[in-house]
Amino acid sequence: MSDAICIDRSPEPGTARNVPIPPRSSFPEGFVFGAATAAYQIEGHKFGGAGSSHWDSFAATPGNVVRREDGSLACDHYHRWESDLDLIRDGGFDAYRFSTSWARVMPDGRTVNPEGLDFYDRLVDGMIDRGLRPFLTLYHWDLPSALADHGGWMNRDTALRFADFAEVVMARIGDRIERTATINEPWCVSWLSHYLGEQAPGLRDIRAAARAMHHVQLAHGLGVERLRGLGHDNLGIVLNLADILPFREGEEKAVATADAINNGFFIESVAKGTYPQAALEGLEPHLPANWQDDMATISTPIDWLGVNYYSRGIVSAVPGAPWPATKGHEGPLPKTQMGWEIYPEGLSNLLTRMARDYVGDLPIYVTENGMAWADEVTDGAVTDAERTSYIAGHLEAARGAIKGGANVKGFFYWSLLDNYEWAWGYEKRFGLIHVDFETLERTPKSSYYALQAALSG
Ligand code: FCB
Repeated sequence: MSDAICIDRSPEPGTARNVPIPPRSSFPEGFVFGAATAAYQIEGHKFGGAGSSHWDSFAATPGNVVRREDGSLACDHYHRWESDLDLIRDGGFDAYRFSTSWARVMPDGRTVNPEGLDFYDRLVDGMIDRGLRPFLTLYHWDLPSALADHGGWMNRDTALRFADFAEVVMARIGDRIERTATINEPWCVSWLSHYLGEQAPGLRDIRAAARAMHHVQLAHGLGVERLRGLGHDNLGIVLNLADILPFREGEEKAVATADAINNGFFIESVAKGTYPQAALEGLEPHLPANWQDDMATISTPIDWLGVNYYSRGIVSAVPGAPWPATKGHEGPLPKTQMGWEIYPEGLSNLLTRMARDYVGDLPIYVTENGMAWADEVTDGAVTDAERTSYIAGHLEAARGAIKGGANVKGFFYWSLLDNYEWAWGYEKRFGLIHVDFETLERTPKSSYYALQAALSG
């Protein structure tokens, strides 16, 4: 066994750089280009009668979030949504992926706040007025504190409440939504937040994680069943997938375990109604009793799949450690401001794999892809050639997957605006548009204009 990273699927460092963004005309007719955001990260949670969410209390606890920042003001999108939508339209995008805050719509997790629904109603009308197609994500992490008080995602009841929330939102705006996703990134909602402790509620407990993993999948299934029963269609889920590679030869077991936790648990349950054996090995003792009875609901048919992709993972086994007994390694490729390797091949690998092994011909959308960089405004402009290259490389990768037969229908850049990057506070900038968090002034970056040019060609 060598100590070197297994490089057979790695590109030469830097191969993704200095590639022009492929023009719209190089994609199949009707391919959707969009930009993505999420409610808590941009809106400003202190306005419009929103209730407290578990992100507010997580952020208020020292040690969780850089500078203890929270989403109370964020980008003040709650008041600036019209000019923000103008920027999306002017960028030449077809669609906008946004989310609805559960704590805004139901401040106590149950009772409807009419002001909250009014806001999303105005927002969706604003999209339609500008010719933008609305792609909705119902839950992008703003769990009402009242539900967190009862165990949040560890409690089965949260999944039932989620179906009620989904119904309330869709009754108001569902008539104008092109595609609806139930949950954004169930891995982050559960494993990252209940095992790794990096996001709200910040737990580090295998049992909490296992139960959250199951309940968030159940919430998705119950949400789809409820909405389908009410006549809604175009229903899906958004998964964050990582291409998992071995640190060295002979690490098949570590790769299989990490892949099952990151990817397999979520896609296999939705697509096939089973959890991978490599995940059950460690999780089964902690799953809720009779979890098998929920698998038919979890795998109720969906209409499309959303894939969020940022980077690959490199893993090895940690002999003798408790399950999952794996650890991650830093790779050699150029990295973003997050320290994430730039690896566009991972996107084509995952899109191809999703189509081949799980969803067949179902439409797949890249619902998030993007990079953080320490962007600065100089003389009124932001030059972010690195981001333009990143986008070019990943759009090429999506094109490669399409050529290989995957039914990829669209690509959403994450994110429209620099915003509240969760535990990183306002430090990491993913936007196509720079936000000055003192003045809230928006400055489109050079990548915004590069994309605008590609979309007109
Ligand atoms: C994803 C989240 C999104 C953003 C990006 C960088 O995991 O869905 O809100 O934080 O990462």
